[in-house]
Amino acid sequence: MGARASWSGQLAFVLAAAASAIGLGNLWRFPYLAARYGGGTFIVVYLALVVTLGFTLMLTEIAIGRKTQQSQLTAYSRLHGAWGFVGLLGTVVPVLITPYYCVIGGWVLYYLKAYAVMAFTGASPMGEAAAQSGAFFSGFISAPFAPFGYGMLFVAACSGVIVLGVKNGIEKSNLVMMPVLFVMAIAISAYVVCLPGSGEGLKYYLVPNLDCLRSADGSFSLALLGKTVLGAMGQMFYSLSLAMGIMITYGSYMKKSDSIERCVRRIEVFDTLIAVVAGLMIIPVVYMFAVKSGIPVKEAMNAGPGLMFITLPQVFATLGAVGTWVGLAFFLLVTFAAATSAISLMEACVASVCDVLKLERKSATFFTAALIAFLATFSALGYGPWKAVTVFGMQFLDFFDFITNSALMPVVAIATCVFVGWVLTPKAVVDEVEEGGRAFRAKRLYVAMVKYVAPAFMAAVLVSEICRTFKIGGWSI
Ligand code: PHE
Repeated sequence: MGARASWSGQLAFVLAAAASAIGLGNLWRFPYLAARYGGGTFIVVYLALVVTLGFTLMLTEIAIGRKTQQSQLTAYSRLHGAWGFVGLLGTVVPVLITPYYCVIGGWVLYYLKAYAVMAFTGASPMGEAAAQSGAFFSGFISAPFAPFGYGMLFVAACSGVIVLGVKNGIEKSNLVMMPVLFVMAIAISAYVVCLPGSGEGLKYYLVPNLDCLRSADGSFSLALLGKTVLGAMGQMFYSLSLAMGIMITYGSYMKKSDSIERCVRRIEVFDTLIAVVAGLMIIPVVYMFAVKSGIPVKEAMNAGPGLMFITLPQVFATLGAVGTWVGLAFFLLVTFAAATSAISLMEACVASVCDVLKLERKSATFFTAALIAFLATFSALGYGPWKAVTVFGMQFLDFFDFITNSALMPVVAIATCVFVGWVLTPKAVVDEVEEGGRAFRAKRLYVAMVKYVAPAFMAAVLVSEICRTFKIGGWSI
């Protein structure tokens, strides 16, 4: 193997990390969580968490990657033999997430194709009635082959980019996809904000509503505040692509001359911006649609995965011919967001395979793609032919989601903070950030966060996620 690959510069790194961070979490999950947790209230809590906790974790991961020049599988053992298990545990996360993320990517491709057919031929594969009832969606995900086929198409496209390498593949594809994504997001949200009658929905989304913190008798509820904070924290974790080795891997391709602190701040700005803009695209139209069709607003917003795949197509259908084009633009945007995130996930796997098996990029990619294809089969068929098979009462896709987001990721994040805060000591990270005599502006905040606050908060996320999944204590986020 030759020298370790590197980004061509700071901008390429920021773009790549932002491309990883901006994904389905921003476009679908953030808006509906914000709508549920009091609009502006949630946004304020989320922002506060991003600039403190998110900052700490992301900076730590990037610094570990750049310091060790390793992907996460070997980075921890390089720093301290006994802590190699964290890297091992962390490597399992992208290996489990990538397959189901690609299956969802396949769903998005299928919708993109449907909208392209509608826009260019005038045919209606969805059919008005089908879109209404959600039959289009359930018909697709329960089909015997289609979900797997589209998922594989998605895996193949991402592998194609990875094979080309860090500079020629990932960097170049981001240079095309990210600007399109930004322009599309701004254009769609501008269109929606200008629609007559969007004001009420905007108010619902943006104005802080403290009612969500009051219990039934009207008094302030600490438990509800806790839920809002935990909901925001879980979202931040996922949205910034933390605790899955991506930032370690990407950091290992970073040049020593670039400023880690500045890069982290920029990535946070991009990621949060797109999340907030996604809400501007989605919330007002769903609000108007709910009012018009007599569905309670809360219920329409809480549609979960159905919000993107069932409710939004219904909304687009009500906008007439323009709706088809808006739908096409929207799903193109989602495809790009999902692809750039999946590429980063796959790269985290490929980099580990390269570092451990000492394989070349091409063979490592092939190996990883085959593994992903195998694992994806479970999620792709889990709503169809293998519907009857469940793990702890969950469909495969939900199970993979639970085991990674709710269990492994908080554990890896807690272990990373304890390791850096107490074993390695924060000085190791601080030195890496200050490399070349650079000032580390948020040094005191960082040290306090990594030693005390972050591990405590992460432990709270872990407990709440487990309670939520197993429905202990009436917890539901
Ligand atoms: N951060 C991505 C998002 O917001 C999700 C993601 C998860 C990306 C895991 C990579 C890895 O959707």
